[in-house]
Amino acid sequence: MNFYRFAAVLLFSCFGLVFAEDPAAELGLVPVPVEIHRTAGQFDLTPKTRIVFDEAAANEKIKFVADHLAERLNVPTGLQIKATAVRKVSGKNTIYLGILKQNDPALGAEGYTLKVTPKGVRIEANEEAGLFYGAQTLLQLLPAQIESREQVECRDWAIPCVDITDYPRFQWRGLMQDVSRHFFDKEEVKQFIDQMVKFKFNTFQWHLTDDQGWRIEIKGYPKLTEIGAWRVPRQGNWWHFDLPQPDEKPTYGGYYTQEDIREIIRYAQERFVTIVPEIDVPGHSMAILAAYPELACTEGPFYVNPGSKFYGEIQNTLCTANEKVYAFLDGVFGEVAALFPGRYIHMGGDEAHKGFWEKCPKCQALKQKEGLKDEDELQSYFVKRVEKIIAGKGKRLIGWDEILEGGLAPNATVMSWRGTKGGIEAAKMGHEVVMTPSPYYYLDLYQGETLAEPATYGMSRLSKSYGFEPIPEGIDPKLILGVQGNLWAESIAHFRHAQYMLWPRAMAIAETGWSPKENKDWDAFVRRVEGQFTRFDAACVKYARSMYDVIFKPSLKDDQLLITLLTEVPGLDIYYTFDGSDPDKYYPKYDQPLSVPKNAAQIRVITYRDGKPIGKQINMPIKELENRVSSK
Ligand code: ACM
Ligand code: ZN
Repeated sequence: MNFYRFAAVLLFSCFGLVFAEDPAAELGLVPVPVEIHRTAGQFDLTPKTRIVFDEAAANEKIKFVADHLAERLNVPTGLQIKATAVRKVSGKNTIYLGILKQNDPALGAEGYTLKVTPKGVRIEANEEAGLFYGAQTLLQLLPAQIESREQVECRDWAIPCVDITDYPRFQWRGLMQDVSRHFFDKEEVKQFIDQMVKFKFNTFQWHLTDDQGWRIEIKGYPKLTEIGAWRVPRQGNWWHFDLPQPDEKPTYGGYYTQEDIREIIRYAQERFVTIVPEIDVPGHSMAILAAYPELACTEGPFYVNPGSKFYGEIQNTLCTANEKVYAFLDGVFGEVAALFPGRYIHMGGDEAHKGFWEKCPKCQALKQKEGLKDEDELQSYFVKRVEKIIAGKGKRLIGWDEILEGGLAPNATVMSWRGTKGGIEAAKMGHEVVMTPSPYYYLDLYQGETLAEPATYGMSRLSKSYGFEPIPEGIDPKLILGVQGNLWAESIAHFRHAQYMLWPRAMAIAETGWSPKENKDWDAFVRRVEGQFTRFDAACVKYARSMYDVIFKPSLKDDQLLITLLTEVPGLDIYYTFDGSDPDKYYPKYDQPLSVPKNAAQIRVITYRDGKPIGKQINMPIKELENRVSSK
């Protein structure tokens, strides 16, 4: 502990003067605000507290923000705080939501100021979205029990006094939910949106279609949901499932009616979230082909894939040379554009297997006729036609970075997922980019030791997600619209598990998307995330505690295995055994790389903090570590 930290702690503990050295960490705020000052005292919610806003500024949006805040406060506290429009704001004990009369350019469309004094709270912003985000910060300042969805006891519903100025770094702060591989119902989608807005995400990409299910009602093509929304049920290890058997019924699935979709759009809009619908073509189209086999290069029949291995072997690609395909897309995108009010439609465009085009006489004839050099250019031809269709509906096209292959369509926005390479290339051509590089921002990857986590692939620990910087060297920052985390659902069969994969990693993405680069700090972020864990507990939302687990780094020294143990989180102690018993704090504490005792078959490890167990116990076979070294 350095002198200043010591002095701050002394001040804190002896005099009750809560002027913490890092108020955001002390208060557990995520994302960290642009500027925060802790001031003396607290504001207490009481039965007399009121939420008020100016009558002159009253509109549906501000009323929603005020009512939403009242509801979030009243459910757990049991208070009956009312939200009302007033002609003149006066008196104590008010939470005031105010649209600034004079626009403050620093705050932009989503920024806010939040001032808490013992007398009351003032949230001010240029626009209602800013008030909504100010309200989210206010809620984070209250005790964790405020997250409860039923009335709970709390000694003191106190809000510490602060002075905050806050606004986002990026305009696109997104999360994507894949509802195709596994279906998540309307209420779960709303819960997903509820959770994301707490961390100031404003974009929800809805991955509505894929090989394993089509999830949006299209009135002109009813078989998409009659047939395409259903597959045979399977559980276990995705990509290894048995193909549908001849007598099997496709009973797993579901879809959203257009009425459901409108309801979710309204729900998102009220919470200042834009939905980007994704219709993934020309690849990932097996559910389309199951419904309309005539859109493939080859003859069917096709079926909705249940999670079996098929890539490159079974047709899942639309034929580029069939005019019916473009008529179909015109119909589908027409209905999608009419439903969704946002600027963008996502056309997917990723991982189209080109092998079937190579063998298709119609695709080959089209290639010749159009003077296209190869299948990349054929894909580009397809993307450009889709862009025209989407532009014709008054929308902009966004797609995964494969849409660069063979030449990018003129006004396309690129979502860079295969690292940042595609994003850099697109930005150099003057196109807008959203950064969602899979090694950092794919939320379906492992987030801790693979032996101790539910089966999936890859590895993206919290610290890795947190460390990603979205603006590459030498790129015009204006072209980087922002960041997005993607929750693919092959290995996510249950909404609780979706939460586990999202949190806390999505908080790292939220902070990168919102907070100034200079305010980011890993150690402080960990403390703030821990503050949020208590809130997730109160909200009964699942999250991963994998950041507390041991990381194994095996190596060889003089042909002998050497085991280095690490943790992402600072200040943890690791205890270990080689004798097959469960370690606790009375066992050896790790302090340097370990050699393996003769004949030991396993190392068991656990982390502690301040004398208490905090991470999972992991039992690691020595053989597994030897295999990891030899496969490096
Ligand atoms: C993707 O992960 N195929 C975009
Ligand atoms: Zn074809």
